[in-house]
Amino acid sequence: MKARGNELQTNCATRTHKASLARINEDYRKLKAGYLFPEIGRRVAKFCAENPQAKVIRLGIGDVTEPLPPAIIEAWHKAVDEMASRSTFRGYGPEQGYDFLRQAIVDHDFAARGAAIEADEVFISDGSKCDTGNILEIFGSDNKVAIADPVYPVYVDTNVMAGRTGPADDRGRFAGLVYIPTTAENKFVPPVPKEHVDLIYLCFPNNPTGMVATREQLAKWVEYAQAHQAVILFDAAYEAYITDPGIPHSIYEIPGARDVAIEFRSFSKTAGFTGVRCAYTVVPKTLIGTSASGEKVPLHSLWNRRHTTKFNGVSYPVQRAAEAAFSPAGRQQVRTLVDFYLTNARLIREGLEKIGVTVYGGVNAPYVWVKTPGQETSWDFFDRLLREAHLVGTPGSGFGASGEGYFRLSAFNSRENVEEAVRRFQRVVGK
Ligand code: MLT
Repeated sequence: MKARGNELQTNCATRTHKASLARINEDYRKLKAGYLFPEIGRRVAKFCAENPQAKVIRLGIGDVTEPLPPAIIEAWHKAVDEMASRSTFRGYGPEQGYDFLRQAIVDHDFAARGAAIEADEVFISDGSKCDTGNILEIFGSDNKVAIADPVYPVYVDTNVMAGRTGPADDRGRFAGLVYIPTTAENKFVPPVPKEHVDLIYLCFPNNPTGMVATREQLAKWVEYAQAHQAVILFDAAYEAYITDPGIPHSIYEIPGARDVAIEFRSFSKTAGFTGVRCAYTVVPKTLIGTSASGEKVPLHSLWNRRHTTKFNGVSYPVQRAAEAAFSPAGRQQVRTLVDFYLTNARLIREGLEKIGVTVYGGVNAPYVWVKTPGQETSWDFFDRLLREAHLVGTPGSGFGASGEGYFRLSAFNSRENVEEAVRRFQRVVGK
């Protein structure tokens, strides 16, 4: 058979290549391991299979647990009913999102905070995870990218997948990326780099550390971006958790940011939409990039082109549900929901501090960043906590080399589970 195949190959004038399997994208092979959260899921599933009697409490992935607010459910139901009647049925909507939602976002999330954003600068999508990955498409691959360390792993992994990095070193750092360690010394806020970079990912309130940046710290980044003609990719998915009135919710509260920043927002953690899917990305029309020939190009037009080509919009009922988060009743109910998780965060923080554990975050964010006791590595601590307390968190090293020796606990769970988790943590770690 083999000989016949070769014969065929040499005799066929049009077929010059030896038949082989389709080539894969080699860049995927640079990724160190599976995506962080599925890897945690795998370890937990194995533990549960071996210990079927264990009542495992999950404070790992930041996934909401409480039901959607009634105002949102009501609006969603109403919109579904509209789809049942010929006169109100809707097919494809605008890819960028319906005006009613874009305008509500502008009024409540930006104008109300003095940030000048227009409705057609808002692109509704199905998630910030997708958008923070997809945004790379509109930037040239020779841009220098800066990333805080530790960081939401999607920023790093999508750069690797897109072939923008070299291989990882033994600490898991990819060649070509500029890592900015955020540590207790700099209060987990990355200082502006001394060198030039073109793209910078910032996330505040921060995932994973739960820390926030002040107006002055953000202003330094905007200044840097202006001086270096760089673009800030600002992930504000957790802005609803800010309790300190002095902390900006949006990068656009900083003068000049319209010309240097893209912002990502989500209804996931704010309104409980992790399973519903609705988010948005703001690309101001004043944000300009440059072509290889030196021509100035608005990034808005590129993102619009990408969005309209590769995305068909979020469903009409879901956009109506998201709009309801801004109604008077919706706003009050969403506030109650966020406050519920913030109380969980406080209980975790206080419970751990009580036994002498060092913790950060959890005041303006749903994440508590825990210093692992002694010299224990993040993954060793993960395994011990799972084994001895039947408690799941997220190893800090999964967010980057500088996260080693830390552990993230999420406040997304029922009150009962959070209280029980704190008791178990105290019992196992405080002994
Ligand atoms: C997290 O736990 O870091 C988040 O839930 C991940 C995400 O939002 O995609």
